[in-house]
Amino acid sequence: MQVAIDGPAGSGKSSVCKIIASKYGLTYIDTGAMYRSVAYVGETFGYDNLEDKVSNIDFILEDNGKKISIKYEGQVYDLTTKIRTPEISSKVASVASIPAIRKILVEKQQSYAKGSDVIMEGRDITTVVLPNADIKIYLTASPEERAKRRYKEWENKGNPPKFEDVLQDIIKRDEMDTNRAESPLKQSEDAIFIDTTGYTLEEVADKIGVIINEKRDN
Ligand code: DC
Repeated sequence: MQVAIDGPAGSGKSSVCKIIASKYGLTYIDTGAMYRSVAYVGETFGYDNLEDKVSNIDFILEDNGKKISIKYEGQVYDLTTKIRTPEISSKVASVASIPAIRKILVEKQQSYAKGSDVIMEGRDITTVVLPNADIKIYLTASPEERAKRRYKEWENKGNPPKFEDVLQDIIKRDEMDTNRAESPLKQSEDAIFIDTTGYTLEEVADKIGVIINEKRDN
């Protein structure tokens, strides 16, 4: 079974996917983490010839979406926490708007999904990466609710940025993700729309669970 989920930053995609993946035995693929890793490579090794650098990266996805490393020039870098910084968050949308980078990552994502039971999330999964997925879902929530969730995540890690900065980052990334020329974030016509504003993670996971069970029974 292939489950494809798209939605803006903070819509709850990754938390919900982790719950669903372990409940239904699916491999969870967080494609945003791959774009973030590319931004990390740009920041660390320079943005010149980024396309060549990215074609030489091996992504190592472990622990069902909880860990991501890359192998670059023979060395393995664990990026799990390094890609979750305000600096990377502010750089990633421009990296993700480069067509040549998207092409490389989309091919890798399609190869991970081939012949596997996966739940994959991002911005172009229902439209470009897995247009024939068994289940397609578009998750969203109001910008304020999404900023509150992101702020809480920062708070739990300690030393959070200002709430207003988190909200502005969300609004700016929405703008870039939905207006870019290449594979912008948009709701696929056949995706099920779920507004998660006011719902807990468990409630959203339950809703998606009902959709999966219905599909399995048919
Ligand atoms: O889901 P996230 O916030 O970790 O995603 C990071 C960035 O990567 C976000 O600005 C949008 C981009 N992205 C994308 O363009 N396509 C995807 N399939 C996944 C993420």
